[in-house]
Formats: sequence, structure tokens, C-alpha cells
Amino acid sequence: MKHRVILDTDPGVDDAMAIALCVVHPDVELLALTTVFGNVSVEQSTRNAQYLLDVFGAVDVTVAAGLAQPIVQPPRPHSESVHGADGLGNCYDKTRNLNPTAAYATVHPLSAPEYIVEQAKKFPGEITLIAVGPLSNVAKALQLEPALPELLQSLIIMGGALDEPGNVSPVAEANFLNDPHAADQILAIEWPATVIGLDVTHKILLTDTHLASLRDKAGQLGQLLWDSSRFYVDFYVKKGAAMQEQEPACAMHDAAAVLYMLMPKSFELVTGRSRVVDSGIALGQLTCDLKGYDYPLPHWESATDTTSIAMKVDANPVRQEFLNRLYAHHDT
Ligand code: BDR
Ligand code: CA
Repeated sequence: MKHRVILDTDPGVDDAMAIALCVVHPDVELLALTTVFGNVSVEQSTRNAQYLLDVFGAVDVTVAAGLAQPIVQPPRPHSESVHGADGLGNCYDKTRNLNPTAAYATVHPLSAPEYIVEQAKKFPGEITLIAVGPLSNVAKALQLEPALPELLQSLIIMGGALDEPGNVSPVAEANFLNDPHAADQILAIEWPATVIGLDVTHKILLTDTHLASLRDKAGQLGQLLWDSSRFYVDFYVKKGAAMQEQEPACAMHDAAAVLYMLMPKSFELVTGRSRVVDSGIALGQLTCDLKGYDYPLPHWESATDTTSIAMKVDANPVRQEFLNRLYAHHDT
């Protein structure tokens, strides 16, 4: 049976990779992109979602726009230095010759959180919600419908770093830092949730050779991933990240969350009560109780649920699945 998916996203260069995989994969029925602030403003992330669906030939996929800022803390600056001012590596100009039809899907009248709740009720137990931006829309949806966890098939979250250092502070990953209160609310309660964080996403890298192969073998979609990744790969090179590769490379964070849904056996998980730090110097840090102790502290007494967190991945087959599905799409 196909996975019925809503992708909650802030496109984003690696979000574009995740969207492309959802669009082409035969085992995925992509219902919607629900958009959120994060890498760019929500207006720009919504525009990017529409643009990507157009370039990828999937304008029938719903786009619903969500929160413009975190649920509690003031907004932080967007990630221009990582994803470019437009969120897609400043590639709008470069890809103009891709000739998107501009038949952009109109934005859904419901907000992203309302849409998530509506669809979860329409297809109880069937929807996999994959959240690859700040968790603000998901927290708001939970506020609208407290039974949301039971209505979903599963929730897969790209965010956090447990053993791995953070990417926006020594301990924080960007999606969790951008709305730590939302992330904490979601992890502290009972969900069928899995966290795909930097512990695994920093292991699944795309080199320029991989990206060039997409450009050459995956049609317009591959061309866009090549164009949009130029700025992003430069960021990784300048930062000295992705150094285990011999050539320029980048992480495919958000696509890894989709790949977990498709290839769960390739990932090793730990489970424990989990929280996200919502103030102080460790703001945005993912913490997990791997011992199961009885801590006499309110934050841990109120955390009842265990969350699964991916710590290891068999990276080669996972990356190859991503590449093969995108090449195959062009052959059909
Ligand atoms: C996450 O942060 C965003 O910049 C990326 O799109 C990804 O979702 C990685 O930390
Ligand atoms: Ca993202």
C-alpha cells in the first residue's frame, strides 16, 4: 500500500530534495505540502512549494500555508547564508529556462494546521506526517485537535542532534532552534513519532558527482536540484562540513526523513523520554533519557512518552535509493 503523506516544509534546498522524492516515488501518495517559516518567510516558502511542484510536474498536490513565526519565542533570522535569499540557492534566475508552466496550485483556503487536522480526520490512521521545518504547524494542529496523535499513522520529524554537535549552536539543530517550544510540546507527549536528526543526516551526503548525475539523468527535476544546490554546497565547503567526502558535498537532511519512511530497516533507533531545551545557552537542544531513571525534576516527571531517535544509518543504500528513484522518474 502507498504511504499517504503530508510534508510539512520550509523549502529550502534539502526540502526540495525531499519534495522531489515524494513526487516521483511510486510508493508515496503526496497529499500536500504544508508550509511554514524557517529557511525563509512563510510567504517565500509557500511560493517555493508552488514553484517546485510546478517544475516537478505535480501541480495537483495541495499547498496550504502555515505559521509565519514560532509559537512562543520571537522569530529568528532566516537561513539566507545556507539556502540563499530565496531559499532555493538563488536559483530562480538560473532555472527560468526550465519553463515552469506557472500553473501554480492555488493556496488552499485552510491554514496548514487546519488542513493537517482535516485530512487526519478524513483518513484516520492513514496519514504519515513528515515535518521537515520548525514544528510550529504541528504544535498548532495539536492544539486544534488534541487527538491528532491517534489520528495519524505516524509522525516523522527532521530535527535535533543527540550525539552529533548541532548545526546552529554547539548543541542545537536549526529546525528545533527555530521553534524549541513547539518541538518540546510534541516530543513530551505520546505520538507515534520518530526523530531523524543530524546523528544520521550528517552521514548521508550528496557529492557534486551525485548531484551532477541527477542534473544529467533526472530531467528538469534533476536540473533544479543541481542549480539550487550550488549555493548550498558552497556553504558546506566554506564551513568545512561534509569533510568525509573527497569533493564538495552537502547533507540531504529532509530527504533522509522521507527515506526513513521508505527504508526503516536501514536506520537504527534508540528510544527514551525526550525533551527540547526551550531557554538558556542550550536553547533548542534535543535531550533524551536513555537510562529510564526516575528523575525528581518537573521536566522529566511530565514527560511520559518515549520517542524514537535515529542514531545510525546504512548510508550507501539509502542514498542510492534516492538517486535511483529520481533517475527512474526521468526514464518513464
Ligand atoms: C534542517 O534545517 C533546515 O535548514 C533544513 O531545511 C533542514 O530541515 C537541517 O538542520
Ligand atoms: Ca527544512
